[in-house]
Amino acid sequence: MISIELKKSMNLYYDERADEYDEIYTLGAGPASITDPNAYKQDVIKVKEYIEKQNFKGVVFDVPCGTAFWMPSYYQNAEKIVLIDQSENMLKKAQERAGTLGCLPKCQFIKLDAFQIEKIKVKPSVFFIGFFLSHLTLKEETQFFMLMKKKIEKNGRIVIVDSAWSDERARKRQKEGRQIRKLNNGTTFDIYKKYFTAGDLEEIAKRESLHISIEYFGKAFFVAVLSLV
Ligand SMILES: C[S@@+](CC[C@H](N)C(=O)[O-])C[C@H]1O[C@@H](n2cnc3c(N)ncnc32)[C@H](O)[C@@H]1O
Repeated sequence: MISIELKKSMNLYYDERADEYDEIYTLGAGPASITDPNAYKQDVIKVKEYIEKQNFKGVVFDVPCGTAFWMPSYYQNAEKIVLIDQSENMLKKAQERAGTLGCLPKCQFIKLDAFQIEKIKVKPSVFFIGFFLSHLTLKEETQFFMLMKKKIEKNGRIVIVDSAWSDERARKRQKEGRQIRKLNNGTTFDIYKKYFTAGDLEEIAKRESLHISIEYFGKAFFVAVLSLV
């Protein structure tokens, strides 16, 4: 069970980290728990490749979007993109990215708790869930899947990108629990974070009665696609 204080701290951490958030992807720097920065950079290339392969079409929900770092890999054939985050600063960054890509007209940016997606009128054919499940307790994770399954189009897909548990990771981190995160200016925040093995992902699919395809499982990140059929 995560306390309200820990949730608040995590939300504030991401809001204040918006400007430097992409450094974990572009430099392998920031809250890196694998010593070799190339592990992150290589996995970013792989993850982009596997998202592109999914060829998102129809309505895409990017929840929570953060800076929408992965948008360049999925925006092209999407009909509409709904980007949701609790952080104003993250949404600003996401908007800048959409502007640079020239896809602002098909984007909608919504400051919303991800647990309130039922409030959005349209239904997604793709849920893109990047590095969110790893911040949820088991109870929250189950609740979030329930909301997604209720909301998604019949033939929809849930595409998950998140943090892989590996021997490298185990040298610096616990598989699950409270972590301290530090911004470049030295400010620290408490967050909750967990990591996934391929077995954990299979278990989730079984629990949720979803079909799963683990498209990529790297040292740092993985890509998994879940569907109702
Ligand atoms: C680790 S970042 C991931 C961002 C992006 N999906 C990516 O893959 O780079 C987590 C994001 O989740 C947002 N967030 C955390 N809890 C949330 C919630 N309950 N509702 C909406 N956004 C939330 C944070 O503000 C932050 O932008």
